Amino acid sequence: MRIIEAQDYKDMSRKAANVISAQMILKPESVIGLATGSTPIGVYDQLTEWYKKGDLDFSKIHTVNLDEYKGIDAENKQSYHYFMNQHLFSRVNIELQNTFVPDGMNENQNEECQRYEKLIAGLGGVDLQLLGLGHNGHIGFNEPAEVFVKQTHCVSLSEKTIQANQRFFESKEQVPKQAYTMGIGTIMSARKILIIISGEDKAEAVKKSFGEEISPHVPASILQLHHDVTVIADKAALSKL
Ligand code: GLP
Repeated sequence: MRIIEAQDYKDMSRKAANVISAQMILKPESVIGLATGSTPIGVYDQLTEWYKKGDLDFSKIHTVNLDEYKGIDAENKQSYHYFMNQHLFSRVNIELQNTFVPDGMNENQNEECQRYEKLIAGLGGVDLQLLGLGHNGHIGFNEPAEVFVKQTHCVSLSEKTIQANQRFFESKEQVPKQAYTMGIGTIMSARKILIIISGEDKAEAVKKSFGEEISPHVPASILQLHHDVTVIADKAALSKL
């Protein structure tokens, strides 16, 4: 595990965008796993800027997103699908048919989870997976639990996650209570993992994830076992490590 200290959010975003750019240049047909939340917005802005300058080409890139709320469709402004369109897909030359997000409107959980696993396998797996970190150490929507869940599954969101995500909705009641997420095994199968973290409010989660023992109660701690993980975090996020 490489831990790279960034000065601040902007520096973290630029460094992470550099890693993604390098991947895209070395392998223009890469499969890139993408994340949502406020942390990756700066990375998507930076990638967009470099694309507009003519430095990046997304035409052969495929993307698979980590997760999606259950029960809201791609046109819903709070959906992760909408987020991706807004922050990246509509701004660069990616082919929309090459972008994949779990289908939050598929009521049939087993079918949707199996479909998504097969889809990722069909693409040849993920070359580089971008991750954010939840305050309780969650990755994707893999919440603290008694066991690590291997494959894409439907989860009930924890109270802490619902509270944290409330800021994007008008009220807490509107935050979906369930989501589809890649499993820990799905994430760990990526050939490379890049996790980005910013802010003092994440310092405790960083310490538990990377400075303590591996436990399903801190889902991100499993990343300690991956052979190619890069952590790019700002000083504030690393302050307790
Ligand atoms: C959500 C997402 C995660 C994300 C986390 C942290 O729950 N499902 O993928 O990493 O929030 O979000 P933020 O970057 O806004 O702190």
